[in-house]
Amino acid sequence: MINGKVGKVYISESQIQKRIKELAEKIEKDFPVDEDLIVVGLLKGSFMFLTDLVKEMRPTLIVDFMTAASYGEALESSKEVKILKDIEESIMGKNVLLVEDIIDSGYTLSKVVEILKGRSPKSIKICTLLNKFYRREVEVTVDYVGFDVADYFVFGYGIDIQHRYRHLKDIEIFN
Ligand code: IMP
Ligand code: MG
Repeated sequence: MINGKVGKVYISESQIQKRIKELAEKIEKDFPVDEDLIVVGLLKGSFMFLTDLVKEMRPTLIVDFMTAASYGEALESSKEVKILKDIEESIMGKNVLLVEDIIDSGYTLSKVVEILKGRSPKSIKICTLLNKFYRREVEVTVDYVGFDVADYFVFGYGIDIQHRYRHLKDIEIFN
């Protein structure tokens, strides 16, 4: 509850879990099984989505994380993107799947993709749970989208409002 407001379910736990199985199946088909796949989660928002997604995938992938900050305490996107925590794996010549919670303006992701491409991976694909495509200010090619969402500020299932509500099993909005 924030300022007396209560959230209502926007995307339910079962809708999320069903969609994740579909995404995992699609992703599996796109990457050769005999090649390494490095799954890079953007912290903190993607932690729950990545966890459920990789459980549906092959056992031989490598999980790594990166923290890129674009928001700070403010709710609106700022254009500055800083890398606060880098991945530990070398991605040179490897297939990379970048996992994001929600793409809004696209600034965060385009910056991260630019940095990772500079390290000569074999391929980079992007998977986001939620997509606000009409908010895009920077072009990003998104390969896998869980749900396109309307212009709500959403929270839950990894996604926060001022660091809270990440633990919710579903995605909620305020009435
Ligand atoms: P972008 O750089 O504008 O694409 O920002 C994407 C990031 O903004 C996401 O990873 C989220 O952390 C945050 N964000 C965007 N929309 C929302 C929302 O509706 N709720 C919570 N966080 C959001
Ligand atoms: Mg994020």
